[in-house]
Amino acid sequence: MNDIIVGLQYGDEGKGKVTKSLVENGNYTHCVRFNGGPNAGHTIYYNNQKIVTHQIPAGVFYGITSIIGPGCVVDLRKLKDEMEIIKGLGIDVTSLLKIAYNCHVISNNHINEDIQKDKIGSTGCGITPVYVDKYRKQGLRMCDSNTDLNIEVIDTSVELNKENIKILFEGAQGYMLDIDWGNYPYVTSSSCLSYNACSTGVSLKTIDKIYGVCKLYRTYVGNYNFQPDDKNLVKLALAGNEVGATTGRARQCDWLDLNQLIKSILVNGVTNLIINKCDIIKEINVFNLYHDNHLMVFNNFEEMKSYITNKITIPIVYSESKYTI
Ligand code: IMP
Ligand code: MG
Repeated sequence: MNDIIVGLQYGDEGKGKVTKSLVENGNYTHCVRFNGGPNAGHTIYYNNQKIVTHQIPAGVFYGITSIIGPGCVVDLRKLKDEMEIIKGLGIDVTSLLKIAYNCHVISNNHINEDIQKDKIGSTGCGITPVYVDKYRKQGLRMCDSNTDLNIEVIDTSVELNKENIKILFEGAQGYMLDIDWGNYPYVTSSSCLSYNACSTGVSLKTIDKIYGVCKLYRTYVGNYNFQPDDKNLVKLALAGNEVGATTGRARQCDWLDLNQLIKSILVNGVTNLIINKCDIIKEINVFNLYHDNHLMVFNNFEEMKSYITNKITIPIVYSESKYTI
């Protein structure tokens, strides 16, 4: 049976940390990305060294076969740079990494168009234009591109249906950035939800656990006006070091939206919830969340925690920034 990790907010929920703990404690043979591209940013600590990956699934750090799936888009120049950095750590990324033949390729024109035409505050990686070309049926796929990159191009429906394999699907971005369910038009262009894991050619029937990841507050990067005027939220951004891993932009902050969280759990079919960065809320000592259009104010973490635990019926792990689940 296979498992999925998805983001339940605006990306940057700490999915990478959950991947780490699941891969270290599980018996996965494959780690697979199913959406997005270089817009994603995964911060990983490898031998105490901070590494930021964008396109390469985190499985390579743990020696398992890692695949960029058909629902992803790829920037081959950036992929080459990322592979060099990972090779430099002594990891045999060339034999671990594979890419779907039907994954679409980002060109310089896509990047230029994204930078010139974007209105919603994109990462400037060419994401909208490459997905537009895909759906216009004028895209360039991996199987049609000439690349000197030493990387195996595969049919994921063959590789991922072999016997005795166990896949961890690694979602990128999150529910509120999803093209269908997110805060449109302030969204990315891919499907960030659990069901898109099966666009890799794997049956829905093989899915076991769906791990949903959120923070105990919300952050967002983009042009939507998100952060209310509240000095406690300024403190929160500082305490949480809320800066984008891909673009270095400051993330806007707001309190947890419990209704949105419950809806994203429902739509994703989440079986296990991980709430990250609880220590940051404790550090600023302000325990707020929104529920049913009210700002709920709690006296301490325990009160806030039991309120949330009461409203959510699936198992929850309350996690901290530097603590792995
Ligand atoms: P795009 O995906 O570059 O088109 O950006 C669309 C929106 O999604 C922008 O608001 C980005 O800041 C946001 N976004 C895209 N990828 C990520 C991510 O991995 N983490 C957080 N925000 C992201
Ligand atoms: Mg990120």
